[in-house]
Amino acid sequence: MDLSGRAYVVTGGASGIGRATALLLARRGAKVFVGDVNRATGAAIEAEAGEEGLAIAYRPLDVTKPDSIEAFVDGVHAEVGCLDGLVNSAGWDKLEPFLANSQEFWDRIIAINLMGVIQLTRRILDPMVAAKRGRIVFVSSDAGRVGSMNEVVYSAAKGGQIAFTKSLAREMARYGINVNCICPGPTDTPLMRAQVGENSAKIIDGMLRAIPFRRLGTPEDMAGPISFFLEDRAAYITGQVLSVSGGLTMVD
Ligand SMILES: NC(=O)c1ccc[n+]([C@@H]2O[C@H](COP(=O)([O-])OP(=O)(O)OC[C@H]3O[C@@H](n4cnc5c(N)ncnc54)[C@H](O)[C@@H]3O)[C@@H](O)[C@H]2O)c1
Repeated sequence: MDLSGRAYVVTGGASGIGRATALLLARRGAKVFVGDVNRATGAAIEAEAGEEGLAIAYRPLDVTKPDSIEAFVDGVHAEVGCLDGLVNSAGWDKLEPFLANSQEFWDRIIAINLMGVIQLTRRILDPMVAAKRGRIVFVSSDAGRVGSMNEVVYSAAKGGQIAFTKSLAREMARYGINVNCICPGPTDTPLMRAQVGENSAKIIDGMLRAIPFRRLGTPEDMAGPISFFLEDRAAYITGQVLSVSGGLTMVD
């Protein structure tokens, strides 16, 4: 679908799933604001997009810091007024048994994967509510639907995102705002490679045996369904959770 004239924010858009999503939306003609804590990769995607003639603008954003969220959102609204949509892809995790987790680790996981999403979304909403239109897509995880070893608090945060999606969708329906969520399965991104670390061959082999399609997801596999939720043909869909996992999870 042609997205010319539309404007989107993609958090975590400097890497992995967010990056593929930002590029897909921009290649369809949209203006995309990438908000990311990593300034180097943020500048890199802006430069790469510029060479292709795409309208991707990087803006610094740390979703764990309310001041940073405020500056980011105010800057975007000053440029485009009301956004057409928001994709929340910023996230972080590290594989570790629950019994070994520290309080500091829990705080970080919740701050990035749950509170950051809640705070940024709240800040983005007012012009959408006034305009009575908008699309929001959360990038949760199948860990939040079916659980995952060594990702206990991350799973809790992602499960929180799923419940947040459904409840926000109910409240926002009267304003014509759709809220949906995708749950990636194992996807080959810098985050996943950092998580599996030295044991990557063994862990990835185990994943491949469990995934019916016998391959990891790619960031582009996720970008398509995220874009779908932003498009006009998804106008009557809200509060839904879509696993994109090569069949690894088949949840009612
Ligand atoms: N890769 C997978 O297997 C997988 C599976 C399920 C869900 N997910 C989710 O998909 C989303 C994207 O992950 P990915 O695999 O593309 O990872 P990634 O590391 O490639 O990209 C995540 C981006 O988020 C940014 N980020 C991290 N902390 C931030 C903060 N405080 N403020 C702003 N930006 C921040 C990072 O700098 C990075 O650019 C995450 O929410 C992740 O939890 C990934």
